[in-house]
Amino acid sequence: MQQKVTINLQPIDKKLVVNLGTPLIDVLHEYGVEFPCGGKGTCGRCKVRLLEGELGKSPEQQQKLNKLTLGADWRLACYCLVESHISLEVAQFENIILADNTTFDFRPQKGFGVAVDLGTTTLVVQLLNLETGQILDAVTDVNPQARFGSDLISRIQSCLDGKQEELQTLIRKKIGAMITSVLAKHPVKVSEVVLVGNTVMHHIFSGLNVQPLSFYPFESPDLDMQKFIPEFLGWELPETAAIRFYPSIGSFVGSDILAGIAATKMAEREEFSVLIDLGTNGEIVIGNKEQIVCASTAAGPAFEGAKINQGMRATTGAISSVMAADDDFICHIIGNVKAKGICGSGLIDAMAVLMRQEKIGLFGEINSGEEKIELSPGVFLTQQDIREFQLAKAAIAAGLQILLNRLRITFDEIDQVFIAGGFGNFLNIQHVIETGLIETTEDKIVKLGNTALIGAKMFLFEDQHFIQNILKKTTHINLEGDPAFQDIYIEKMMLG
Ligand code: FES
Repeated sequence: MQQKVTINLQPIDKKLVVNLGTPLIDVLHEYGVEFPCGGKGTCGRCKVRLLEGELGKSPEQQQKLNKLTLGADWRLACYCLVESHISLEVAQFENIILADNTTFDFRPQKGFGVAVDLGTTTLVVQLLNLETGQILDAVTDVNPQARFGSDLISRIQSCLDGKQEELQTLIRKKIGAMITSVLAKHPVKVSEVVLVGNTVMHHIFSGLNVQPLSFYPFESPDLDMQKFIPEFLGWELPETAAIRFYPSIGSFVGSDILAGIAATKMAEREEFSVLIDLGTNGEIVIGNKEQIVCASTAAGPAFEGAKINQGMRATTGAISSVMAADDDFICHIIGNVKAKGICGSGLIDAMAVLMRQEKIGLFGEINSGEEKIELSPGVFLTQQDIREFQLAKAAIAAGLQILLNRLRITFDEIDQVFIAGGFGNFLNIQHVIETGLIETTEDKIVKLGNTALIGAKMFLFEDQHFIQNILKKTTHINLEGDPAFQDIYIEKMMLG
């Protein structure tokens, strides 16, 4: 029998018993330790402090630790195997996962259904009574694939490195277990499961070839709806239950956005609306009942904390908002703890406040000539971070402009701008407008929460005709392929 060892996690006081030689990356991601670079040793975000016991350091790890100026008791979890009983201090990030209780019109059906929002970072499963529309229960969790990196590119790369089956098994098992846990509390007969997610999640879950998503023109032939039976996935559901992963619109615009279009009802309205999801992909959609255009931008990483020096997701310790106070500013930190970094909403706020205080100029330059500005003790916004913000902001603003051009309309003709996703909830709308991210007026902006989940629930009550009707009028635009893209992009880099 394999020898067991104990890992003590502090400050959460959790004891884990694992096989000798288990990689820390296999166990810690469940406890909130993040592995943004997928274990390549480049980000340093998986750092843990060794409190007791022995945990070896390879020369390569030591080199990385030196580079990150981390002392003798620190380790990079992505490098470590557990060889003895140990105690570790981990930065416990409390994930804020957005479920949803929005009410919507529905046509009563028989039985019970499950809606699944399969996000790159987070997962939500909701059980619904299809006759009454009542949500019986919801569970949330983190996507176990996170140990292969936090962004889509790392996940695709892991698949190309021969790990697709592992990623697929992880996610199928996790969602199956989440459904089982909900049904343990509510033993009802589920007739239907709807899954929505971005195209990469769709491909990995469904066992489709992700290679076409890895090179230009990023066109996959497998965007269609994928159907499964419970036995095939190993899920404990009645054998008649229909499981469907909804179709993607384009290679980087998935069924989470299709669900978002349904949730906003933009495909039914006379007036034009915009849907923006500032998550991993930065997807944007504009349209009305006649025509819809959509695109993905490269904006996501900055708003999710990647590429920003002290960037992090909207979890405990993140500066989530910054308000001006005369010539100074006040930061709000999630969890009311000492600031560890800054998340997307905090970044936008900081930019808006610093621009207003003329600490940052029109071209993004720090006016004092310094290389960085301290936001909270130990947390800085660097010149490079400002550049990253400008790139992300320009990607969204240029994307919107190109989609408007395609529809031959201007922003004045937009009736409503829906902001989707957990990120949207923390946004200070006035600051979004001041930074030029979205060129509209405050009264038009609506924060809609988890539109992917709202749409997935709506799909439980709708037939295929409903989906086809949206897909038929929706065109996916490749922004970089537009001849005006470069010029507009450069123009939108300016602040103010
Ligand atoms: S250094 Fe990036 S995950 Fe370990």
